[in-house]
Amino acid sequence: MKSINITAIINEYQFDELSKEDQELVSAAKDITSNSYAPFSKFSVGAAALLDNGVVITGTNQENAAYPSGICAERTTLFYANSQYPNQGVKTLAVAARTEAGFIDMPIPPCGACRQVMLETEKRYKKPMRVLLYGENGIYEIRSVADLLPLSFDASAME
Ligand code: THU
Repeated sequence: MKSINITAIINEYQFDELSKEDQELVSAAKDITSNSYAPFSKFSVGAAALLDNGVVITGTNQENAAYPSGICAERTTLFYANSQYPNQGVKTLAVAARTEAGFIDMPIPPCGACRQVMLETEKRYKKPMRVLLYGENGIYEIRSVADLLPLSFDASAME
């Protein structure tokens, strides 16, 4: 038997410690939560993707009465970004979430399906995609999606 030790580096920042570019991206993710359609969970999520060409694409979670038909903010945003700009890598994806009581204290943890889609985006453009997860008490910076999804499945497994 041997053990495989997988480590991930996550940096935690306060908002004023972020670069101006990151502050603007996090603010865009927070602002767009107001466009969320979340009548069922009342959990409004926003995401903002900074592309290599400087364009910022934002998106939100969109729910549905047939629950599984809804989609998370991260996937809305990345799919739209990749649809509009298929040749532009994503430098950074910021995510924020709030309940009716306000923005959540802990950094929003993306669901497994979104991590898988984020990973595909990173692989597709062959460079690390940074992720900024906003919480009122701190912001997590993950410097590569690979750190969010160890032992991940990708196309290489099918070769
Ligand atoms: N949700 C997101 O949009 N992103 C996440 O990272 C976690 C969950 C959405 C899905 C659903 O509309 C609501 O939040 C509650 O799960």
